Amino acid sequence: MIPTVFSASRPLLVLAPMAGYTNLPFRELIREKAGGLDWTVTELVNARSLMEHRDEALKLSKTTDKDSPCFVQLFSGVIRETAEAARIVEAQGAAGVDINMGCPAPKVIKSGGGSALLADPEHAIRLVEAVVQAVRIPVTVKMRLGMTPDQIVAPKLAHAFQELGVQAVTIHGRTRAQGFSGNVDLNGIREVVQAAPKIPVLANGDVTTAENALFMLKQTGTAGLSIGRGAFYNPWLFSQIRFALTGNAHPPVISFEERLHFMTEHLQRMIEAFGEFSACSQFRKIAPFYTRRMGPSKELNRNLCQCETFQQYRNAIDTYLLQRKRFLDENGELKPNYRPVPVHSSLDELAAIG
Ligand SMILES: Cc1cc2nc3c(=O)[nH]c(=O)nc-3n(C[C@H](O)[C@H](O)[C@H](O)COP(=O)(O)O)c2cc1C
Repeated sequence: MIPTVFSASRPLLVLAPMAGYTNLPFRELIREKAGGLDWTVTELVNARSLMEHRDEALKLSKTTDKDSPCFVQLFSGVIRETAEAARIVEAQGAAGVDINMGCPAPKVIKSGGGSALLADPEHAIRLVEAVVQAVRIPVTVKMRLGMTPDQIVAPKLAHAFQELGVQAVTIHGRTRAQGFSGNVDLNGIREVVQAAPKIPVLANGDVTTAENALFMLKQTGTAGLSIGRGAFYNPWLFSQIRFALTGNAHPPVISFEERLHFMTEHLQRMIEAFGEFSACSQFRKIAPFYTRRMGPSKELNRNLCQCETFQQYRNAIDTYLLQRKRFLDENGELKPNYRPVPVHSSLDELAAIG
């Protein structure tokens, strides 16, 4: 059955997959506390490992009623194993299967999957066709524009996927050669929309505020947005975008205490899911995304990076709360010179150029 989210008349807002970050505890928490999302996608899962019922793959592909609808993202370059893994995902009750066609990480490339598929469009098309035929749940694809600026394949692929029955395409507006930096190519995204007019195309890359979200939608003509890093800088981003889409420029302000509470709850839920030591280690790279908005946090980050227990995390926060007082004015707000500079987004630069 096709989820109603695909027929929504309003822009679709989706949490982009981020390996090591968008784990199940985060996905449940962001829906519960911040909201505004249409669906989530798991971190990328190795199709072969899932086929072999390996623990890690089974854990990564796990979703719950509180995390519904959620798509499980698979990577592999092998047609048979991707189709087989898709069947497993379907049997597990996922809302859909998302195929990764953008990841530049060596372990993913080695499998022939991720962005390696962009180098062989005919093979990519055969792989997607096999997955669509293997399952009844919706199949989506998340890809980049191409390998390099001279080898842009996304419009051709998006058109082929639409014809095969793929239900939505997410396009990260960069080439593999760009990695995660450099300007997002708005024209490149628009060309994908034009090539696949019958299915929703979601724009991805550098959306960090409600303002640049609206700019991205307007410039690209996409049916929605997929947001990764911005969701950690500001978990309320999705609901703020919804608010801005109604024409209201002043969404409710999220307090420092709410942000701190969200960060702490993310760690607590990770501890429940992964155990204290593993959760605290994994959280070391996640915490700086959250603390970035809290004011000067160099020392806090240094302390958080050494935490092995929840008590140590609590101590680091308590120390920070005492230190933070000197950055505050009489109303408890950060003094102007201590306010965080906005997170860099190429969309803001492109909007400024006009
Ligand atoms: C740490 C990290 C992990 C990522 N993991 C995945 C992944 O598992 N699957 C995927 O399709 N993309 C992955 N991406 C790419 C993001 O989904 C997204 O395309 C990219 O970060 C640009 O969007 P953003 O600016 O909204 O973050 C990852 C990106 C980062 C920074």
